Amino acid sequence: MKSVTVNASTPYEVVIGSGVSAKIGEYMQELGRSGKVMIVSDTNVAPLYAEGVADQLVYHGYEPTIFTFDAGEESKNLSTYGDILALLAEEGFTRTDTVLALGGGVVGDMAGFAAATYMRGVAFINMPTSLLAAIDSSVGGKTAVDLPQGKNLVGAFYQPRLVLFDTDFIKTLPYDEIRNGLGEGVKYAVLEGGEIFDILSSGLTSDNLEDFIALSVDAKRRIVEEDEWEKGKRKLLNLGHTVAHAVETLTEYVVPHGVAVAYGVRVMSRLAHDRGELSDEDYYKIEELLLENDLGLELNPVEELIPYFSADKKKAGRTLTLVTIAGIGDCRLTEIDIEDVARYFEGN
Ligand SMILES: NC(=O)c1ccc[n+]([C@@H]2O[C@H](COP(=O)([O-])OP(=O)(O)OC[C@H]3O[C@@H](n4cnc5c(N)ncnc54)[C@H](O)[C@@H]3O)[C@@H](O)[C@H]2O)c1
Repeated sequence: MKSVTVNASTPYEVVIGSGVSAKIGEYMQELGRSGKVMIVSDTNVAPLYAEGVADQLVYHGYEPTIFTFDAGEESKNLSTYGDILALLAEEGFTRTDTVLALGGGVVGDMAGFAAATYMRGVAFINMPTSLLAAIDSSVGGKTAVDLPQGKNLVGAFYQPRLVLFDTDFIKTLPYDEIRNGLGEGVKYAVLEGGEIFDILSSGLTSDNLEDFIALSVDAKRRIVEEDEWEKGKRKLLNLGHTVAHAVETLTEYVVPHGVAVAYGVRVMSRLAHDRGELSDEDYYKIEELLLENDLGLELNPVEELIPYFSADKKKAGRTLTLVTIAGIGDCRLTEIDIEDVARYFEGN
């Protein structure tokens, strides 16, 4: 078992290990929580794990209610969010009660936003079940739902009181979802270098899973502690995301987020190499990393993607902030005038 303490505005522990979900009741008692718990989950995860978590809570004197919605990004909207709030109100939840997310990033983002806003904020606990949620979305306090106009357009920064990831949950995660999580993993590998890069370069296994997740969480912790509200350094976590969002828009989300991020990293690595800013050695190491993780994809050519860059949330006024790669473990924020983006991506 591993544990990482995130010293954000509300400090919390991220606990990672085999079988830790069975200890949810004890962890909640340590946090001094009592009363009702709304377990928010989706139609894939709830049948596998919700009853087990609810039983543990009952055993420790809590009153759990399970809310389940249709799995998938399409459910991450105002309507499902409204349903969660309505059930919280119907069940008489108050500020002393708790919302618990049990699922991937969709569940976590939406349950977190409901917790952030119901009665102006009730305690939130996140139990991620996907690789992507374990290494990325469950930590850092970003919560959101989508609008028809775009992803994550309504949300709040709201830190959980606890993140509990049971590595056994990965056993039921389909291969495509593992690969999707590895896409965000590639991002951390290139941002951080070192052990995360080495683990992913040799391939994720059940033996190194716990280490990999703890290292990724720790990498995110360091960035979030420095810049919780994304005024500067936290933007580094957007490595690959300008390209990824363009791919997602162009393919109408057929390409999953993590896979699109890995392609974004590939495009940025290739660009930096072409511009003479990234060494041959690091460039080929990144290429090998992508191939090892079944992410050596050729998706939409950059020329097709550029028109979508200006719709990116990383645009401010006439400037787009790109995360550029100067080396493995050395990524930088580079501001580019919107007018110059096409020329920049041609390597000039
Ligand atoms: N808040 C953040 O900082 C942040 C960061 C990155 C991504 N996100 C968000 O995360 C979401 C993507 O997360 P995701 O990839 O986890 O998607 P997801 O929640 O849709 O989960 C992917 C699929 O895997 C299934 N699943 C999850 N865990 C399972 C398990 N253990 N066994 C079997 N099936 C399981 C889910 O039911 C779903 O079908 C997006 O909405 C994205 O915007 C948020």
